[in-house]
Amino acid sequence: MSLKEIRKEIRPFENEHLGWMAATLESVSDMVFISDLEDRLIYANPAALKKFGYTKEELLGKTGEIIMSPNNPKGLRAEMLKATQENPYCWEGEVINITKEGQEYTAHLKTALVRNKRGESIGMTGISRDITDRKKAQEQLKDYARKLEQANQELRQMQGQLVKSEKLAAVGVLAAGLAHEIGNPLASISSLVQLLQRKILDSKAQESFHSMGIHIQRISHIIQHVSDFTKHEQMKRMAVDLEPLIRNALQKICLQNNDKLIEIHTKIEPGLPRVSAEASQLSQAFSHIFVNAFEAMGKTGKLDVEAAKLVKEMVKISIRDTGRGIPQKYIRKVFEPFFTTKDVGRGAGLGLSVSYGIIKSFGGDVCVESIVGKGTLFEILLPIYES
Ligand SMILES: Nc1ncnc2c1ncn2[C@@H]1O[C@H](COP(=O)(O)OP(=O)(O)O)[C@@H](O)[C@H]1O
Ligand SMILES: [Mg+2]
Repeated sequence: MSLKEIRKEIRPFENEHLGWMAATLESVSDMVFISDLEDRLIYANPAALKKFGYTKEELLGKTGEIIMSPNNPKGLRAEMLKATQENPYCWEGEVINITKEGQEYTAHLKTALVRNKRGESIGMTGISRDITDRKKAQEQLKDYARKLEQANQELRQMQGQLVKSEKLAAVGVLAAGLAHEIGNPLASISSLVQLLQRKILDSKAQESFHSMGIHIQRISHIIQHVSDFTKHEQMKRMAVDLEPLIRNALQKICLQNNDKLIEIHTKIEPGLPRVSAEASQLSQAFSHIFVNAFEAMGKTGKLDVEAAKLVKEMVKISIRDTGRGIPQKYIRKVFEPFFTTKDVGRGAGLGLSVSYGIIKSFGGDVCVESIVGKGTLFEILLPIYES
């Protein structure tokens, strides 16, 4: 059989084949377009006509621009046509389509170049699918993931706080016991030492008694701090005026550090409401923070103390020093009892934990931020007193 005869033989089937393909294009739910090389539409299947709301007469002959929203990225259509007509002879991506009514939706579009039997380019096809729902679901999923991450973070934070307050509560119980068990024998030792000091006048012994006295004082000091953990639980709260309290505490610390040149600025909002606390305890809480600030600053520095009313029935006190700062690895530990970076014998590591306990017991809060070499900021929140 010659080639010509073979072609003649299969022609009816070829036609039949084309018929099948046409029927398929007409019935698929994806939108199918065919256009010439100038992108003028020469075919749109029923799914496409229905989606865009045009009749065949309205659509065919127009360029593909008619169904592209002006909200697409600039140059997208040009890029699409170029990719389809030049290597790689196809394009795939997301586009924003627009219907005759002006409704926009996101579609996934796949284009390809069509060639005739001689391999010459004759047109382009485009198959498109509305992916609005998929996009919406994706966005929703992302949103859920974001919310989940946020909830997770809050949970971790709360867990941290819980561990911290549980730890402090346990220390409180322990401290009360210790203060009692150590406090009483220590008082006896102290009076015995004083007795001996009066009786044995040898100078070597006197030196030892003196240093024993210092150590005893140090221990009783610690016991005092430690027992403060439990005390403020039962304390009665009153209306406390912050301005004189802060000024007094600052004055005291200045007197103790008269060898230093620390510039102090206070900015207390006029008419600041009184807070609900117990004055001597609160003063102690501030003092521990001021003492640390002075210690961190060395010979010179600047201490800023500000107090202002917040919207949420709270007063905020900010204490900012220009001291050496707290390394990031320690920042979460500074409120823990017995955490200190000071040499043995210099710091007991109780100042901030006592301040924390006091402020918390008044329904307040305290947090710290610091930059090593620049300084530290303590922010204290205290509830406004309501009579
Ligand atoms: N203003 C501050 N600047 C730098 N470091 C600070 C400051 N306040 C607290 N710290 C750090 O927190 C630690 C704990 O403080 P604190 O509880 O008062 O105990 P102590 O002063 O006895 O060490 C300090 O040893 C210090 O390292
Ligand atoms: Mg301290």
